[in-house]
Amino acid sequence: MAKLEGKTALITGAAAGLGQGIAEAYVKYGAKLCMVDISKEVEDAAEKLRREYNAEIITVVANVADREQMKAAAAQTAERFGRLDIACCNAGVCRLAPFEEMSDESSYLTGSQIVIDGGSTLPETMSIGTN
Ligand SMILES: NC(=O)c1ccc[n+]([C@@H]2O[C@H](COP(=O)([O-])OP(=O)(O)OC[C@H]3O[C@@H](n4cnc5c(N)ncnc54)[C@H](O)[C@@H]3O)[C@@H](O)[C@H]2O)c1
Repeated sequence: MAKLEGKTALITGAAAGLGQGIAEAYVKYGAKLCMVDISKEVEDAAEKLRREYNAEIITVVANVADREQMKAAAAQTAERFGRLDIACCNAGVCRLAPFEEMSDESSYLTGSQIVIDGGSTLPETMSIGTN
């Protein structure tokens, strides 16, 4: 039996990069997924996994910094799969540059805030899935 068989996971930032890789690892282990991303390309990423692994996946285009959008994503997951066991709060913006080139402090803070705000929606998101 696969380690995540019978489990449902919501993964944010799942259209690309680490989130897409985490989604693939989760379906390999048998999880059902809600793949969330601000980019509508999340549906292409999900379709690839459905074809390759016959995985059960829904997608939601949402901004993790928007609490209402995240609550709706969790509610859709619970409605479709009947449960939400795991929230992988991966979405964020990582701007890498030498320190002396980071002159635009506000844009750096905006990136950090997405991670902070996105993370703060986690408890509420999980409570919807476990009710
Ligand atoms: N790649 C690294 O080396 C590295 C290192 C340390 C931390 N991280 C962190 O890991 C996370 C993922 O990194 P990555 O390299 O895969 O990034 P990436 O840019 O390749 O992918 C990020 C994904 O998140 C989505 N996203 C961004 N803002 C969003 C929002 N507000 N709501 C919903 N989706 C949003 C993007 O559309 C994209 O699909 C980020 O939080 C990043 O800061 C990455």
